[in-house]
Amino acid sequence: MDGLEIKGGAALRGDIVISGAKNAALPLLCLGLMSSAPLVLGNVPELADTILMEGLLRHHGVEVTRDGETVTMRGGATNYDAPYELVRKMRASVLVLGPLLARYGEARVSLPGGCAIGTRPVDLHVRAMQELGAVVELADGYIQARAPGGLSGGRIVFPTVSVGATENALMAAVLARGSSELVNVAREPEIADLANCLNAMGAKIIGQGTDTIMVEGVEALHAANYTVISDRIEAGTFAIAAAMTGGDLTLKGIRARTLDALLMVLRESGATVTETDDTIRVVANGRPIAADITTDPFPGFPTDLQAQFMAMMCIADGSSRISETIFENRFMHVPELLRMGADIRVHGGIAMVRGRDALTPAPVMATDLRASVSLVLAALTIEGKSQISRIYHLDRGYSRLEEKLGNCGAKLRRIKVA
Ligand code: UD1
Repeated sequence: MDGLEIKGGAALRGDIVISGAKNAALPLLCLGLMSSAPLVLGNVPELADTILMEGLLRHHGVEVTRDGETVTMRGGATNYDAPYELVRKMRASVLVLGPLLARYGEARVSLPGGCAIGTRPVDLHVRAMQELGAVVELADGYIQARAPGGLSGGRIVFPTVSVGATENALMAAVLARGSSELVNVAREPEIADLANCLNAMGAKIIGQGTDTIMVEGVEALHAANYTVISDRIEAGTFAIAAAMTGGDLTLKGIRARTLDALLMVLRESGATVTETDDTIRVVANGRPIAADITTDPFPGFPTDLQAQFMAMMCIADGSSRISETIFENRFMHVPELLRMGADIRVHGGIAMVRGRDALTPAPVMATDLRASVSLVLAALTIEGKSQISRIYHLDRGYSRLEEKLGNCGAKLRRIKVA
């Protein structure tokens, strides 16, 4: 199994070009199911998760070709069944539900099952499809949905903000008869990206980026070329890396407005952050100062950066309170950070972190994507060699991580671990 050996202690300095956003690319790839006309997506990062999604689309009958970071899809779907073997590997596979149902009037999608960061139900996805007129049955571990006469527009009020359920509802509403109003939707930049691509394909969507989206259904979508936005979570991870290693990194191709909540806390903890239209520069000014965060839907502090921020607080001056409100079990990095000498106490969804002068090297194990990268960040601050095993999680979400960090002075290499 692949692991990473990291010899930390160096301040990271240099420029990093940010890749396309995984969480934008995954729903955008599902649009290949919604039209037989070609859809050409640029800036699609080559990651384990995007490759998996391309495989799922091929399973559905879509012709998918990749040339570097450009993915072309054509032909639409011929098979409406997303089996457990594929869906269990990646929860985002449930995003095929809306497109299949809207375009073909039927879908059979495996329930995603358990996941390291909590139970993560799909009740909101199912309810949204029902509000659009689908008949949905949960049987044999599958969501079986039908709308023989097609979906019809409706008003969907989400009781909780959900990124995935907003995306499924939006994709379904685009091909439903009549108009739809989606209320209390997620405002993440990836939702606006999905709506903008759908509009480029001929959809009629307004309000994306706000908490209410209006959709006027259309009969069919046409061919389009679209470029995926950059990955704010990747950029945020490197911004934290600069601040916690005493470094100076310029992140290129990322809009600071997508990371306001993080950048505000980085400034609070002592870093100098400067922005242009498409770059962010983070310069550390000595040891970080402790700061508190609470994760929230966008534009709040992203849950996907909580583990990385906690790693920084482990070496900050003072105590920090980290409150996780999105997922009930998203502190799996804590026991591993403790092995590196961190001082963290968890009570329910709150972690109290007392900053240490330094962490110490230890063999640690990655448990999910963002937890893994938080261990990489911690190891980058430690003089001495750390070993992180099970880093296949990193390959799900970070494109060329070793190369990007290595070019900025980090000493890390991939090794085989038993
Ligand atoms: C997406 C992101 C993930 C990020 C998360 C929150 C993708 C591919 N993944 O995941 O990286 O951490 O947003 O920003 O974009 N919920 C329900 N019922 C549902 C759906 C969700 O109760 O039917 C709950 C979840 O358990 C969670 C909350 O809603 O507590 C938010 O989850 P959601 O926004 O749906 O996350 P994902 O779309 O799965």
